[in-house]
Amino acid sequence: MARRTPSLAQRVGLDARKGRTSPAKRVSVRGEYQQHGVEGYYRDLGTGYQNPHETRIRAALFLALERHPVAPSANVLDLCCGSGEITLALREKGFRHVEGADPFTREAYERRTGATPLPIDFVQLSDGALAERSYDLVVCSYALHLVPTSRLPGVIWQLSRSAPRLFVLSPHKRPRLRTEWGFSLIETLLCERVHVRVYQRPPITR
Ligand SMILES: C[S@@+](CC[C@H](N)C(=O)[O-])C[C@H]1O[C@@H](n2cnc3c(N)ncnc32)[C@H](O)[C@@H]1O
Repeated sequence: MARRTPSLAQRVGLDARKGRTSPAKRVSVRGEYQQHGVEGYYRDLGTGYQNPHETRIRAALFLALERHPVAPSANVLDLCCGSGEITLALREKGFRHVEGADPFTREAYERRTGATPLPIDFVQLSDGALAERSYDLVVCSYALHLVPTSRLPGVIWQLSRSAPRLFVLSPHKRPRLRTEWGFSLIETLLCERVHVRVYQRPPITR
């Protein structure tokens, strides 16, 4: 009898309906990235995605907002929005205009936030897909290190044309952004093992 090949979701023990990983079957996400590529991983698992570190991500975001206040009326882009980890935290703080962007997690984001994300990937972003849009803040959580190195300057430059401020949340210090790409580092925070780097766009000179 022919055996069915288990899906990637089954192999990493992730229940796509609940977005949870069973400890017995858990394998390293980094290993899966290496084997299937980042896009292949999220294409298969994006529907059930939920960040297991959501509580500390929320705490780190709140610390950044305390130190660098942003009015709740601000327009915010939740870049690589996953299932809405940042969007939901911002709503909790009274933010009303938060837009998600992610090419792979539409269902997960819709299910938890009731909103539809922009289906923009890193290539489209660096090609100017956000050029007509304007935000007061971009938040990118646990995702900027996934941008291929060659694309990173273009992605950051385009973001800096659309928003004066960028918060990058990450479990580590990568990636390092260069000022000439469009944002200057203002402060680095560490909260419950989440690194938050706060960037500001230097005044645009014409
Ligand atoms: C680790 S998750 C982080 C999600 C969420 N921001 C969080 O804090 O949990 C990485 C996100 O990057 C997105 N992503 C992966 N490859 C991408 C690409 N090529 N372009 C845009 N987003 C991508 C995935 O769909 C996923 O939602």
